[in-house]
Amino acid sequence: MQSDHEPAPGALAPRPAAAPLAEANSTLTGGAGLFDHSARDPFARSAGLWTGILGLTLTVAVGVFLVSRNPAFESGKAGGTSNQLAELAAAAVLTPGSPAADGARIIPTKACVGCHIIPGIPGATGQVGPSLAGVAGRPRIAGGAVPNTGPDDLTKWILNPPGLKPGTLMPNNGLTDDEATKIVAYLETLK
Ligand code: HEC
Repeated sequence: MQSDHEPAPGALAPRPAAAPLAEANSTLTGGAGLFDHSARDPFARSAGLWTGILGLTLTVAVGVFLVSRNPAFESGKAGGTSNQLAELAAAAVLTPGSPAADGARIIPTKACVGCHIIPGIPGATGQVGPSLAGVAGRPRIAGGAVPNTGPDDLTKWILNPPGLKPGTLMPNNGLTDDEATKIVAYLETLK
């Protein structure tokens, strides 16, 4: 069977005379020979402008909302997780002029640094005696021979170690009472 109307392979079907080109009635805009189809666009030309204005308005509205919900803007204090805040508290912050700050200044001028590791004191890397890290939290010092119930005990110890523990390797360092009090004020920050 063979059809007379079938075009030859590769040839285009003839256009019916009644069907004009889609562009036939449109304005030729020139340039690359493109036709102006804007009259048939699904969106008006001003749609982009209004979408932009709407987007900006929404952005500002969300911003104002978030700022109004954040208590830090009212209190002037930045918030933080408890972990972040705990880190600050853990580092011993010495108030300038406080006894502890004076103590931290006195310790490096004494022989302590040659025998003890003392956190926060540059150059205190001695290995003869025990590290003083956490010394304020120890219930007993000097190998258990001396009670450490508070600053007074530590002060008595550093003023006269052999007096409290005969034969100890820690010598009397010839401190004044004032120096000893300030040094201990610093040691008490080493919990
Ligand atoms: C010649 C070395 C030497 C010097 C200098 C020295 N110490 Fe010691 N210190 C020791 C030794 C050793 C011990 C351990 C004593 C013991 O157990 O009998 C000790 C113990 C201590 C302890 C008790 C710690 C513990 O946990 O038992 C404190 C506090 C301490 N020294 C503070 C100081 C301070 C403050 C200075 C400076 C003013 C100082 N020491 C100078 C050697 C020294």
